[in-house]
Amino acid sequence: MTRLIFTLILAICTGAMSLSAKTLVVYYSYTNNIETVVTELSSQIDCDAVEIEPAEKGLDYAANNYAIGSALISAIRSNPDNPASYPAIDPVDINLDEYDTVIIGAPLWWSQMAAPLQTYLFNNGSKMAGKNIGLIVSSHSSGISGVVADAKRLIPDGNFLNPSLWIRSSEVPNCKSLISKWLQDINYQEITTSIEAISSNEDFTYAINSGCLYASGTYNMISLYDKSGVKVGETNNTSLNISSLVPGVYILCVNTKNGNKSYKIKL
Ligand SMILES: Cc1cc2nc3c(=O)[nH]c(=O)nc-3n(C[C@H](O)[C@H](O)[C@H](O)COP(=O)(O)O)c2cc1C
Repeated sequence: MTRLIFTLILAICTGAMSLSAKTLVVYYSYTNNIETVVTELSSQIDCDAVEIEPAEKGLDYAANNYAIGSALISAIRSNPDNPASYPAIDPVDINLDEYDTVIIGAPLWWSQMAAPLQTYLFNNGSKMAGKNIGLIVSSHSSGISGVVADAKRLIPDGNFLNPSLWIRSSEVPNCKSLISKWLQDINYQEITTSIEAISSNEDFTYAINSGCLYASGTYNMISLYDKSGVKVGETNNTSLNISSLVPGVYILCVNTKNGNKSYKIKL
């Protein structure tokens, strides 16, 4: 009976897990520098892109020495936990559950992240927990540490990819090589390699349920490693307690009498 329940859990959970790696680019752009960067990025990687639009149209954020943009940033700075501090944006029709990696394209305003993009992340950052988060920032000349801090405040449980990419306005027309180098620096290819589902006819299957990884098949040992190669769990039993592990991508090694087999899995 216990075995039957295990089998049912396996069948339900394995089928329900999202196993393909997908990337979303979320950006805002007032004078089209980030837009140009995102167009180039989209030619180098397979991704969906969505632009954040302020609800109030026609504002000149740069008029009077950037007075409106400055006021919006000041409001957020003085009360970052209050939803009323953030300017309204148009509805965004995106299901974040479909994505493993989110790349944020952000203009810098007064050393912070541009206000409309902060609104989107304030409302949705908690849904990005455990996802890989890449950050591209464009400024005229100011350093980007304030924007990085904003992103980490708004996506507290994101798995931030280091380094963030800083593209100065003057570098935008030639951003192609900066972007391709950055993709190498963050190991983009490796982190977004498709996670293969374990097909039903393999002699090993697993499922995740209530903080446990349940394994089924003929094996001597299963071992779980994080992305930096540190072993985070091991068992020769049918279940492994994973409740203390942060969500993300892990490598599951299965040792059988025929040798080792590794699977990239998502917790
Ligand atoms: C309201 C506002 C404030 C800005 N503040 C700064 C700043 O403090 N330092 C800086 O180097 N650039 C600043 N900029 C320039 C932008 O960061 C830069 O032009 C960026 O490339 C714009 O990206 P976008 O064209 O995608 O909007 C500001 C621009 C605006 C509109």
